[in-house]
Amino acid sequence: MARLVVNGESREFDAGSDMPLLWALRDHLNLNGTKYGCGAGLCGACTVHMNGKAVRACQVSLGQAEGAEITTIEGLDPNGDHRVQQAWRELNVPQCGFCQSGQIMQAAALLAENPKPSDEEILSAMSGNVCRCGCYQRIVGAVRLAST
Ligand code: FES
Repeated sequence: MARLVVNGESREFDAGSDMPLLWALRDHLNLNGTKYGCGAGLCGACTVHMNGKAVRACQVSLGQAEGAEITTIEGLDPNGDHRVQQAWRELNVPQCGFCQSGQIMQAAALLAENPKPSDEEILSAMSGNVCRCGCYQRIVGAVRLAST
């Protein structure tokens, strides 16, 4: 039996401790906003927060996540109105949208730690989040906007 605290709720379900967090979120808890991209820690589509830090959910086991506070895109703000989400809407960032929840979670973790990042710091923090549509300029612009 696995036990997780996700988006402020304690959840229990039948899974082994070596299952990747990403699988548990999507297949057991039906939190499908977190996406599977590469499964190898390379694309950032599966980014969630573990105790407030951005992590790749495909690379964290349930054993490692147990006892931590996990936040997914569904729990970032109850109304989808986190300042990063507002900036994303204002600048109409997504194209296909697949990578966006990971991008937003990465950006939110950056701003929680560093409310006024420089462009270099934004680029560095976001560099592991791949966007196949190439929306990088709008992504950087939205992070900048959310930090003002
Ligand atoms: Fe986890 Fe790509 S699916 S980093």
